[in-house]
Order: sequence, then C-alpha cells, then structure tokens
Amino acid sequence: MEDFEFHNPTRIVFGRGKEARIGVELKQAGIGKVLLVYGGGSIKASGLFERVTASLEEAGVAFTEFGGVASNPRLSHTREGIALAKRSKVAAVLAVGGGSVLDEAKAIAVGVLTADDIWDFFAGKEVTAALPVYTVLTLAATGSEMNGNAVITNEETKAKWAIRSIHIYPVLSILNPALTCTVPLDYSAYAAVDAIAHVIEGYFTKRPASRLQDRLVESIVKTVIETTDMIMADPANYSARAEFEWAATLALNGLTPAGIGPYSFPNHMIEHSLSALYDIAHGAGLAIVIPAWLRWYRKHTRTLSQFERFANQVFGLSGAEAGINALEEWFVKIGAPVRLATAAIPVEDIDRIAANAARLAKCWGMEKEYPAAVIAEILRLAA
Ligand code: NZQ
Ligand code: ZN
Repeated sequence: MEDFEFHNPTRIVFGRGKEARIGVELKQAGIGKVLLVYGGGSIKASGLFERVTASLEEAGVAFTEFGGVASNPRLSHTREGIALAKRSKVAAVLAVGGGSVLDEAKAIAVGVLTADDIWDFFAGKEVTAALPVYTVLTLAATGSEMNGNAVITNEETKAKWAIRSIHIYPVLSILNPALTCTVPLDYSAYAAVDAIAHVIEGYFTKRPASRLQDRLVESIVKTVIETTDMIMADPANYSARAEFEWAATLALNGLTPAGIGPYSFPNHMIEHSLSALYDIAHGAGLAIVIPAWLRWYRKHTRTLSQFERFANQVFGLSGAEAGINALEEWFVKIGAPVRLATAAIPVEDIDRIAANAARLAKCWGMEKEYPAAVIAEILRLAA
C-alpha cells in the first residue's frame, strides 16, 4: 500500500424526508441567507422546491433563487450566478439538484469571494476560499455531493474543465433516495455508467496489488449493476435507489483510490470533450469511451491480470475480452450508447474531438501517454 492522506469533511445526512432539516441546519450554522441554486425545473415539478423553501422560511433563513442550471453547466450562467450572489450578499450556497447543479453551485461559491474571473481557476489558478456549500441531491451519479470537484463548460472555447479543492467539499449533503425515484430511466442508466467509471479508472490504471481497494471497487461495480437492474424493472424501488445512491457517493469521495498510488482518469479526459462538443449526458459519453478505451488499454498495459480479475470478480467470467464484452453488453442492455453514431456523433469528427481532449490531457499532465493521435485511435474503436 502506498502512503496517502484521506480527509473528507462532508457530513452526509441520508434517508427519507431528511431535506426538511435543511433550514434548521443552516440556521444552526449561523447562516442567515443563501443562494438557492437549481436546474431546469425538475425540483418545481416534484414539489421539492416548495418543501425546501418552506424549511428555509420556517427556520428564518432568507434566500435568493437562481434556477436554470443546464445539464453540463455553462460558464456564462455560472458568471451570472456569481454576480447575483455578490449583489444578494449571501452567506452560503444551497444546491438542490443533480451533479450539474452541485458543480455550478460550487463554482459560484468560489467566484463570490474573488475579483478574478472564475474561469481562471478552471485554467489552473489555485482555489483558496469559497462560501460554504450545502446540497440536497436529486440524482445520484457524480459523487459531487461528497467531493471537492466541479466541472464547467466554457461554451466559447468548448473546454469542459474542472476545479478541485478542499474548499468546495459540501459542508452538508442531504441524500434522500426517494428524491431520485423520478430520475428518468435514460439518466438512471447514464448515472450507473458514471459511477462505474469513477471506480474503474483507478482500478485499471494503478499499479496492481491492493486487495482491499480492488474489492471495494468490485463491490461498488456489482452493487451498481444489480441495483440498476432493479431500478430498470421498478424505478420507484426505494431500497435499490438507496443502495445505488450510497454506492455512487462512495465511488468518487476519495475512498477507493486511497493507498493505490498514481493512477489516471483517461476515460473522463476523453468524455469531457464529447459532452463539451455535443452536449450529450456525461454518462452516455462514458459508455461510448469505456469499452473502446478498455480494448485499447488492454494492449498497452503491463497489468493484464487486472482485466482477468475484473472479468472474474464482477461477471464470473474468464478472459480479459470476456469482461470487456460483458460490461459493454450491460451498457447496451440498460440503454446507454456504446458507439459514437448512436449518440449522433459523426465519425468524421474524431480528429476534432481528439484535439479538444488533448488540451485537457495537457491540463491533467497526461499528454505524453495520450497525445491527440492516441485519443483518435481510441475513439476509432468506438466508431
Ligand atoms: O435540471 P433539472 O430540471 O433538475 O433536470 C435534471 C437534468 O435534466 C434531471 N434531474 C435531476 N434530478 C432529477 C431529475 N429529473 C427528474 N427527477 C429528479 N430527481 O436530470 C438531468 C441530468 O441532471 P445532471 O445534474 O446534469 O446529471 P448528473 O448528476 O449526471 O451531472 C452531470 C454533470 O456532472 C459532471 C458531469 O460532467 C456533468 O457536467 N461531473 C461532475 C463530477 C464531480 N463534481 O465530481 C464528476 C463527474 O465525473 C462528472 O464529470
Ligand atoms: Zn464522471
């Protein structure tokens, strides 16, 4: 096991109806006013908006509303939120929604405390402060509820880049699995792919031999697969939604990479270009990239045994290719695209996508292993 530090400061409150506590929690933390950030309206349709605002009013916490966060949140809208938060003199940001809402709320929380343009931080400037972030999660997938990441798309340059900082871990995230029962089945499938991606990136790219971490990953992957199958059969199955939600949270909260040493996130690096250029769901883009990358990486890795282990432990199969095929077939079964064409992405665009991804590869220090030509080679396996 390699040396590591693990510090996750987010408090999770998990269970039915727990969103009713948000007002009291904020009040007890001495917060008198929040920016209430949400997306395209799902929280109004479900009645959650009314329940959350009632809880704030009862506790005497004032709020300024900021809706309209897009799936794949945008820089221009983030800047509007920052300006509004500054004018409204809020003391915290409350995100109610999925990963996109949480991510934009985190970026706003950073932007409020600086005169610099928020994109500077996505381009590499260090985040040194942020307003406290509180969240009520409605879509389990990204792990944003318990991590220090935020991903935003600069619509002018088509760069979908991220910030990472201890300052943007939510102070408190409320996870009521019942809220996720209305997530449409296509997004439920994309969520499953995303949670799996978060754990297998490290599993395949680290050096081998970390029994506990490998088993944690395999357990999360199996739980995601089994609970997603249950959700597909019955979207309102509370216990399946609950187990899925906790698995997705643990998939990207720092737990699984602890002690595994260096690893990389190539599937995310490539996918962010697909969702930046074509505005597809992040998990849909990952379903296209993952089987292609696995097939490419299998030929370039020195740890082929990890592929055999994956096939065996997750699917009860033997042989590296059998594991890749089984994962791909499962993606297809739940309705996720596994070819560029299925997501209406022209194969002729591969070089353009690769050039876009190569910029992020450079940002993430992966440009030696993943120059544009290699990224294009991987994408051609998804043609
Ligand atoms: O906008 P509303 O109306 O709320 O609708 C959303 C949206 O259309 C809807 N939705 C959310 N909860 C719902 C619901 N519909 C019905 N019932 C509910 N309970 O679902 C749609 C998708 O929401 P979104 O927040 O975009 O999905 P997700 O949670 O998958 O977030 C995706 C974003 O997170 C980024 C992705 O790149 C993408 O931009 N990621 C963030 C990460 C992080 N912060 O750590 C890591 C990930 O790898 C990822 O990059
Ligand atoms: Zn992801």
